[in-house]
Amino acid sequence: MNAISKTIEAANPFLTGNYAPVTEEHVTELVEVIGEIPKDLNGHFLRIGPNPVFVPDVATYHIFDGDGMIHAVQFEDGKATYRNRFVDTEGLRKEREKGTWIWKGMAGMADLVKGVPPPEEGLMKNTANTAMVYHNNTLYALMEAAPPHKMTLPDLGTAGEETFDGALKHPFTAHPKVDAVTGEMMTFGYAPFPPYLTYSVIDQKGKLVHTTPITIPKGVMMHDCAITEHYTVFLDMPITFDFMRGAAGGMMLDWEPENGSRLGVVPRYGSDADVKWFDVDISMVFHVSNAWEEGDMVVVQASRSLRSDISRATENAGKQEGMTDQLGQLYEWRLNMKTGEATERHLDKVHFCDFTRINDDLAGRRSRYTYAARFDPAHDAKFDAELKYDDATGAIQVHTFGQGRWGGEGVFAKRDNAKSEDDGYVILFLWDENAERSECLIIDAQNFEAPPVATIRIPHRVPFGFHAGWAPDN
Ligand SMILES: [Fe+2]
Repeated sequence: MNAISKTIEAANPFLTGNYAPVTEEHVTELVEVIGEIPKDLNGHFLRIGPNPVFVPDVATYHIFDGDGMIHAVQFEDGKATYRNRFVDTEGLRKEREKGTWIWKGMAGMADLVKGVPPPEEGLMKNTANTAMVYHNNTLYALMEAAPPHKMTLPDLGTAGEETFDGALKHPFTAHPKVDAVTGEMMTFGYAPFPPYLTYSVIDQKGKLVHTTPITIPKGVMMHDCAITEHYTVFLDMPITFDFMRGAAGGMMLDWEPENGSRLGVVPRYGSDADVKWFDVDISMVFHVSNAWEEGDMVVVQASRSLRSDISRATENAGKQEGMTDQLGQLYEWRLNMKTGEATERHLDKVHFCDFTRINDDLAGRRSRYTYAARFDPAHDAKFDAELKYDDATGAIQVHTFGQGRWGGEGVFAKRDNAKSEDDGYVILFLWDENAERSECLIIDAQNFEAPPVATIRIPHRVPFGFHAGWAPDN
């Protein structure tokens, strides 16, 4: 490591090592494979994340701020092709034209005077860096403060922002839920000013057919939602927006446990008056794994932490104290729609995990298996293994990566002509810090603890990122 990168590391861990952004875009056939790429795996493995081009201030750069870049591996009849490409957002184009940064990102929210960009530029950049969803044969790149970007496959081209014929009037979560049975997509947006929460349904043909505001006491960072066959579930957790707190020198977006935690259940086409709220123990959920109905019960499973200091992620990076309070564990709430009673329990008290995924065909329906990335609290909460939870038996299988090998979100992709829920593969990118090499792992979901069926070397570095996704071949 040279002197300059040491200085950057001291100033910001999210800009160095395998967090450091890459500058080039590639299309590369992948030929170095340990094992064999299954011929019954066909489609696109996708991983999106922040890849900043212009950084206003290295010291205050937040991992949420970077420009979106998608890394993809296309599988076709036992062959694999790697591609990476920026999401070509309007904000990035404007900054490239100017030759420097315009928006200050999360740090801008902590500085309500200097942090505000010129009025003609809008308050925030739509970075499109967080997650993706595949709906109505279309891939979208998402960030929760802005509309989705429509993307093209396999070239990862950007077709522009999607407003659903102008019907979308609110920010669009990075985690909408698609009901594979009906083809509907449930989404929402949150805001620091009223309406704090707005809910929408988009039909199977991509038409926005239902929108309603949902009343919550205060603006909160609401990162995910859940669906069941008949309901949508909102997670009102206490990372709150507070302009007065910001003006008084505190964080405008901060952990405020006094605001409580509650889950709100609304019929799929319901409105504000139909929401049933359930008070639950104070906690934070970034990612739901799934939800479903059992008689009068709505069951929600998610990765749940005791608290979150997400606004301070940069200053807290590398600190051990209190870290595990902020790492999720698999958890369940059972909400009785008749009595209004909520019960809750840990599904796992051993492992810390996040990036929970299921077989997406079962979103909103009873699912048995959850896959999740396991945190290693001793190594800056990097992911040292992928987990497979069996909700029928309580068994937890662990696919460890080996020393100095760090994973990311694993996505389940079913094999061609799959016959059961876990008949397929869990796919993820991995960074081997020993060899300084990126890999793509294909794990047999039914032989989960065995070595990967294929370990594919990527001749370019794939930085750590956020969410993974899967898109079938059209
Ligand atoms: Fe997320």
